[in-house]
Amino acid sequence: MKTYIQISNKIKKFNKTIKVSGDKSISIRCVLLASQAIGTSRIYNLLESEDVINALKSIKKLGINYKKLKKHYEITGFGLSGFNTNNKIKIDAGNSGTFARLILGLLVNSNNQITLIGDNSLSKRDFSRVTKPLEMFGANIKSHNNNLPVKIIGSKFLRPIEYSEKLGSAQCKSAVMLAALKAPGITKILAKKSRNHTELLFKSLKIPMTVKNKKNSDLIKIKGHSNFKSFKYNVPGDISSCSFFIVLTLLSENSKLKIKNVNTNNSRLGIIKILNRMNANIIATNKRNYKGETISDLIVNSKKNLRGINCPKNLNSSAIDEFLILFLAAAKAKGISTFNDLGELNKKESPRLNIAIDFLKKIGVKVLREKNNIKIYGNPKLYLNGKFTMKNFRKDHRVFMMTCIAALSLGGKWKIYDRDSINSSFPKFLTIIKQLGAKIN
Ligand code: S3P
Repeated sequence: MKTYIQISNKIKKFNKTIKVSGDKSISIRCVLLASQAIGTSRIYNLLESEDVINALKSIKKLGINYKKLKKHYEITGFGLSGFNTNNKIKIDAGNSGTFARLILGLLVNSNNQITLIGDNSLSKRDFSRVTKPLEMFGANIKSHNNNLPVKIIGSKFLRPIEYSEKLGSAQCKSAVMLAALKAPGITKILAKKSRNHTELLFKSLKIPMTVKNKKNSDLIKIKGHSNFKSFKYNVPGDISSCSFFIVLTLLSENSKLKIKNVNTNNSRLGIIKILNRMNANIIATNKRNYKGETISDLIVNSKKNLRGINCPKNLNSSAIDEFLILFLAAAKAKGISTFNDLGELNKKESPRLNIAIDFLKKIGVKVLREKNNIKIYGNPKLYLNGKFTMKNFRKDHRVFMMTCIAALSLGGKWKIYDRDSINSSFPKFLTIIKQLGAKIN
């Protein structure tokens, strides 16, 4: 079967209103928390992508039933000791670092050995960042050089921990927060700022927790062994999925886009803040609060005179999944852009910093790199002619989507491999791009 797509024309001007699929981070957290609640939870607008389906299949293997209905999923949990871990079980996280790291937190009280596996990309990623704190709770964990497969046997005699999370990783923070539910007493986490969906969900579920916001970190205290009831949740649109259409609109001519029902939680807003500092004028309207999350409609217009940015490091975490597409915007902006301290990018589904630099050079953009800092020499007249092929990017969904946006906004004749990569986070990506008028074969 053909695994590539071909794009041979730039997108024509468009003026559309769209909706993107449910937020991936929140969808995975909802599945995991519903699996620990007492009773049947109802989750609307759950992202139906491979990462989330793998989460659902995995909790099913652990004895938790779910049902897909017309507009929502029902998941029936039996409380914090409700996983059936009496047998040795193997669960497959596929491509999902978020699911893989968070589920380990919930397995610290398993009765038996659970083996966690994943695809080629996930099997190359570091798990010591979560296994170290989870061992402190008393779980017994074995891995293959800190990579998958990871084997975990929980303990009946867990203890609460005090942990300092220094990477600014929401996955690490959340894995520890989920494990804290299983331990008696109070777990304290001092976490460098990162997305706070787990905290907001805990709060809406009335799990005993306090959060003290400091300048660069948050002090979170959680009281374990507190069962909570099933819940209803309506997952808002994913701003990370929006980011591709936002940049497409900015870089296209005379176009306008409205994206409805987007999660605009401040801990995810880096993409908007950075682009607006580059002279974009992205507006969030119709703001409302849903269980602590901010939801808005976004309005974007084409922008001929984007300018370079010296991107402040304190925005890195709130834009962590958006740098690939931000680099593309910087390539077309006037002046030099600098982005610093981006080592974490090389720890994602693919080594994104390396891949982005190769990509920018491939399309004729000057880039300088010093350690994990890069300088992009923008060129507002950047247009492409000739043939380009994009392959060997470890099937990273965000690399695929960024490349499509480059092709549609800069021109050239493109062959982009691994079209199935989008299934992990955003299966509807190509359908929406076509709704905007793009021609894709
Ligand atoms: C996520 C956290 C981030 C992000 C990932 C989703 C989450 O990873 O890159 O796509 O849902 O917690 P890190 O925790 O590794 O920064």
